[in-house]
Amino acid sequence: EKGISVGLMGFGTVGMGVFRLIENHREKLQHQLGCSISVKRILVVDPDKNRDIQVDPDLMTVHAADILEDPEIDIVIEVMGGIERTRELLNRAFQNKKHVVTANKDLMALHGNELEDAASRNNCDLFYEASVAGGIPIIRAVKDGLVADEINKIMGIVNGTTNYILTRMDDEGLSYEDALQEAKELGFAEADPSGDVEGLDAARKMAILARLAFSVPVELSDVEVKGIKDFPVDDLKFGKQLGLTMKLIGFTHVRDHEVEVSVEPAFLPEKHPLAAVKNENNAVFVNSAAVGETMFYGPGAGSLPTAAAVMSDVAAVVNNISSGVPGQSYLEPCYEKKILASNQRFGS
Ligand code: NAP
Ligand code: HSE
Repeated sequence: EKGISVGLMGFGTVGMGVFRLIENHREKLQHQLGCSISVKRILVVDPDKNRDIQVDPDLMTVHAADILEDPEIDIVIEVMGGIERTRELLNRAFQNKKHVVTANKDLMALHGNELEDAASRNNCDLFYEASVAGGIPIIRAVKDGLVADEINKIMGIVNGTTNYILTRMDDEGLSYEDALQEAKELGFAEADPSGDVEGLDAARKMAILARLAFSVPVELSDVEVKGIKDFPVDDLKFGKQLGLTMKLIGFTHVRDHEVEVSVEPAFLPEKHPLAAVKNENNAVFVNSAAVGETMFYGPGAGSLPTAAAVMSDVAAVVNNISSGVPGQSYLEPCYEKKILASNQRFGS
């Protein structure tokens, strides 16, 4: 029986987590999925870099073609980040009939429609569970769990770095700079953390969630965004004295067929369930017509939690390959609803 070979694009925080999970759970994965999974090639910038995991040097490459042109590689796992180059590589992967699993919210928020289209034209799967809220299976909950329901509203904390910074400042009195430095060292922050602290990372995730929840083509420019970077530290202290906790909140809802998406810092009463979400953890509330309110909580960033979400997608691809139905797109556009651009909103 032929096993499944994967090409790993990126071997940083998430890539090494994926490699570890595949190595550590080899037998379980084989048992559950009915075939073995092995990493055939790993794309990096610097193959000689000192890394936490030592791998066979023959696995490492700096040439994307070693993955994209290898007919034995079935699935590309993209955990290298970046937008334009990565977009080109994933389009080439689909042309070469490779399924793709990605953790890249920057790419999916900007070019998700194009990539979903390229995937389905080539009968390939494209899954991106890890792109929103790290280890929390929120995309599957929205798309599969609530498939027969109607989502009205999603609200949550979807950026681990800012939640970590706010928690460390609020609970331990750390400075903004020291807390950000810790988040970088722990691997939560992006290589360029300005997107985290300015709210853009959360905006990208909310755009992806809104697109999936409401089947509308949400652009990043439709999201109203405020970050925590310039938030006065004194306000945090005054809030604490009043029993309030500041969180960076992502929000999307539909009303009269119009969808709004925003990200902004907000003070919450200490008893609010989202106020209790600390450190790099994320939490997402979903309000839907049939189920009512559901809340999803867990680590929103970090090596193994994110890698676990990536592997859930790999398992979904393997199952689709086994049952002969790859190419299932998440998107079924429904243009009954429309996105309300941030400058069309009341008060803007
Ligand atoms: P990272 O630690 O910076 O690792 C990036 C890896 O990709 C490195 O191994 C790097 O090679 C390689 N790489 C970067 N650019 C490349 C290029 N142009 N060509 C070939 N290889 C390249 O990043 P990460 O934190 O693992 O994040 C990866 C992706 O997952 C990003 O899209 C991120 O937004 C997303 N994500 C991250 C987390 C998290 O908690 N970190 C959570 C959810 C989603 P070298 O090692 O040689 O430098
Ligand atoms: N930088 C991101 C965060 C990683 O802090 O949430 C997970 O997407």
